Amino acid sequence: MSSLPRVLNFSSGPAMMPPSVVAAAARALVDLDGSGIGILEHSHRGPEFGAVLARTEARIRKLANVPQDYAVLFVTAGATAHFTWIARNFLGTGQTADYCHTGVWSGKAIEAAKPFGNVHVACSAEASAFTTIPTTLALSPSPRYVHFTSNNTIYGTQWTAPPVVGDCPLICDASSDIFSRPIDISKYALVYAGAQKNLGPSGISLVIAQRSFLATAEPSLPPLEDYRVYDREKSMHNTPNTFGVFVIGETVQWIDQQGGLDAMAAQNAAKAATLYDFLDGSKFWRAVAAPGSRSLMNITFRGPTAALEEAFLTRADGIGLSGLRGHRSVGGLRASIYNAFPSLGVLRLVDALAAFEHEQR
Ligand SMILES: Cc1ncc(COP(=O)(O)O)c(C=O)c1O
Repeated sequence: MSSLPRVLNFSSGPAMMPPSVVAAAARALVDLDGSGIGILEHSHRGPEFGAVLARTEARIRKLANVPQDYAVLFVTAGATAHFTWIARNFLGTGQTADYCHTGVWSGKAIEAAKPFGNVHVACSAEASAFTTIPTTLALSPSPRYVHFTSNNTIYGTQWTAPPVVGDCPLICDASSDIFSRPIDISKYALVYAGAQKNLGPSGISLVIAQRSFLATAEPSLPPLEDYRVYDREKSMHNTPNTFGVFVIGETVQWIDQQGGLDAMAAQNAAKAATLYDFLDGSKFWRAVAAPGSRSLMNITFRGPTAALEEAFLTRADGIGLSGLRGHRSVGGLRASIYNAFPSLGVLRLVDALAAFEHEQR
């Protein structure tokens, strides 16, 4: 059994990485694949990085069973850039795009789309203070696309399955749960994810998009914001984040070695159940998200008072449980337990929460 790190990092992202991936990245900084040159120093046009790019794409295609007519793109920007670029590509003047509003990030995506066309909010979790995932959508008559956020990093809710939208192109911000469970790519027109939770470093994102959908983009776009250009130029329109691509490739290989997306889903469900079961059984702590809508990646919870939450956070920092403070817009506590977070680490947190509760009696 592998030992736990000295400090357990519950950060929402950038977040804990698999130790073997970090070790491989450290080696590649000095010497990529025995080439004698480190990954940071290799030309992105050289054969060595070419091999990294090709194998990373191939690993993603295999892991997620990406259909042939889908492009796999690496974009040197975080997920926020796609909030604007998606609307710029696919939402023309006079057209309407539908958005599912389930949290802070969906709200930002909505705001970013508004300058380009009409935005229709097809469902909103606002009435439940974003503690639930809506069960029904009221689509506009002919939406250009439907956008949703599969996991709400800040409020700690998650769609158990993608919304049903018929033939309408479905776009998903999967930044905080990509490759944490099986994904049927064929249901989507476009999936995008910032890397810094389940894939690699910040500042790079993965886009998987159906080519026939990309072909429907606005005809004239700035090349840097045109997904067709990324596809045509194999993610090399400008210098890609070569290190980021390398790390994503290692992480995807690690997921494959764990048994793939089914195994990942089983591990993630078990880890989250450990914490939710404890919270549901506690008379002191309580989970924020409603059962049925709860995220397996980001678990938000509260104590009886803000002062007691603060006291626990101070205690947690002192015993090597880092990054548990809830997002500033929500308060309370949040444990982010992405793919790489170890099960034993969740048990350590439960022990600490139980001990603190016991002392307050
Ligand atoms: C669901 C979701 N979407 C988008 C973003 C924004 O990513 P970035 O800051 O890399 O642009 C985040 C960041 O945490 C996120 O959790």
